[in-house]
Amino acid sequence: MQRRDFLRGILAAGTVAITHPATAQTKLLNLKDYIRFRFCRPSVHLRSDIYTLMNHDPNHPIIASYRSGVAAMKALPDSNPTSWAYQANIHGTSLPFAQWPAGAPFATCEHGSDYFLSWHRIYLYFFEKIVRKHSGNNNFALPYWNYSKAGQAALPLPFRSPTGAGNALYNGTRANSVNAGNPLAAGTVNIATALSKASLLGGGQFQSSLEGTPHGAVHVAIGGNMGAFSTAGRDPIFWLHHCNIDRLWEKWLSLGNGHANPIGDAAWMAETAEFVDENGNFVTMVNSDILDTAAQLKYQYEDPRECIPLLVANAHLSDLIRRISIKAKLKYILRKDWKIDLAGKATRLDLSESDQRGEVTAFLRAGKLRDIAKSNRIMLRFGGLRLRVPMNGYFEAYLTVGPKETFAASKPVFIGNINTFGADAESQASMMQSPKMQEKKDHEMGVSTSIDVTDVLLKQVRGKGDTLLAVTLNPVSGVEKDEQGVNREAEPVFGEVALDVLPIEAK
Ligand code: C2O
Repeated sequence: MQRRDFLRGILAAGTVAITHPATAQTKLLNLKDYIRFRFCRPSVHLRSDIYTLMNHDPNHPIIASYRSGVAAMKALPDSNPTSWAYQANIHGTSLPFAQWPAGAPFATCEHGSDYFLSWHRIYLYFFEKIVRKHSGNNNFALPYWNYSKAGQAALPLPFRSPTGAGNALYNGTRANSVNAGNPLAAGTVNIATALSKASLLGGGQFQSSLEGTPHGAVHVAIGGNMGAFSTAGRDPIFWLHHCNIDRLWEKWLSLGNGHANPIGDAAWMAETAEFVDENGNFVTMVNSDILDTAAQLKYQYEDPRECIPLLVANAHLSDLIRRISIKAKLKYILRKDWKIDLAGKATRLDLSESDQRGEVTAFLRAGKLRDIAKSNRIMLRFGGLRLRVPMNGYFEAYLTVGPKETFAASKPVFIGNINTFGADAESQASMMQSPKMQEKKDHEMGVSTSIDVTDVLLKQVRGKGDTLLAVTLNPVSGVEKDEQGVNREAEPVFGEVALDVLPIEAK
């Protein structure tokens, strides 16, 4: 009885007000759309966990369709916009500009920018449509690889067996250990750090933290094609990896705590990207049209799944969003052109040598630090990393903080991973080839990782005396029981290591 009244009430109005947790926007949907998108109907494609599909049926129709769709794309000439090579070239390419097909939006992948998540979301959206068409399975939706779930860290079996060209999902360029089924290491697939961040944009916040780990860490652990921008899209696992990254964006939003998309940021909302649709036509999409995956893009994830709308408007949500500014108010350069020797186990940088003017020592006074931390976050930035070739691994970063007198006995604290994906010369050259990317930004060359060290500093800086600081980088390969280890030929150099002071703005 009550239920009927409820429905009649909505029908009389013809619309229903929905506040979507992903956008914090209240909108009026007509009842038809409400029922179509919100009750887990098949009109919304469901992206599933590949392990769930595999355990159910090793040749599940979704897996079989992905394999046949990829095979069909690989059979097309490279100049066809829906071909395997063309799609990969959109991400990055080593093809000289003069050889690009007319109008090709090649080498436009967004990394280290505000648009990492949105660009890759749209990239996947059209790729999924292309596979759907070429596989002939209208129910096809991209599966995701949730490597962070217990027992799922090994490359899914259909991608490594059978080996050889007969299996369109196999790729022989990957690290041997990965194709042998060794699980990715726990540090590679850690999602807790990224998911704990408060805002989406900003240095060291959710998007950039996620881009480093697990995103970049998984790329370099798999290695081969996956290890560089210019070739990553050629490995069929790339698309399941990014499907998971896109899912983690939804996951982060679903955690509440004021997590929200940057709908108040006009530039972000108006950002567009260009791709190719399933019919080979150029298409442009704008960020404001990709925020609600079910209603706007007609797909959802197995987890998190939001079929039932939140009918109660949460008007305060957007006021709670605190955004960390991207521009540093103050910065202390600790070191320029820091070369890392991969022959040793770890490399330590002692600040006491670089801080000749005593600026950082002055900054690290307990009272001053506490004051600064009230309205700022302090980031340790490992900027402009360049590699000769991919190093097939990443760095664990440790910070030693302690009073001058007892510094030698101070213990290093793990502060996070440093991303190396895309730092190699080949990836950097790929980015520089695209006229669109060239005009878009002054390229800060290399790859930068910012790690929020505010809490560590607050905890360790005490008393009135001088505090010293040192960072230690430990190169690790991202796969368990890996015999290859990191590639010593990579010759890493960090352009700049610095402490940045980033103001917190209430939005
Ligand atoms: Cu644009 Cu995972 O790379």
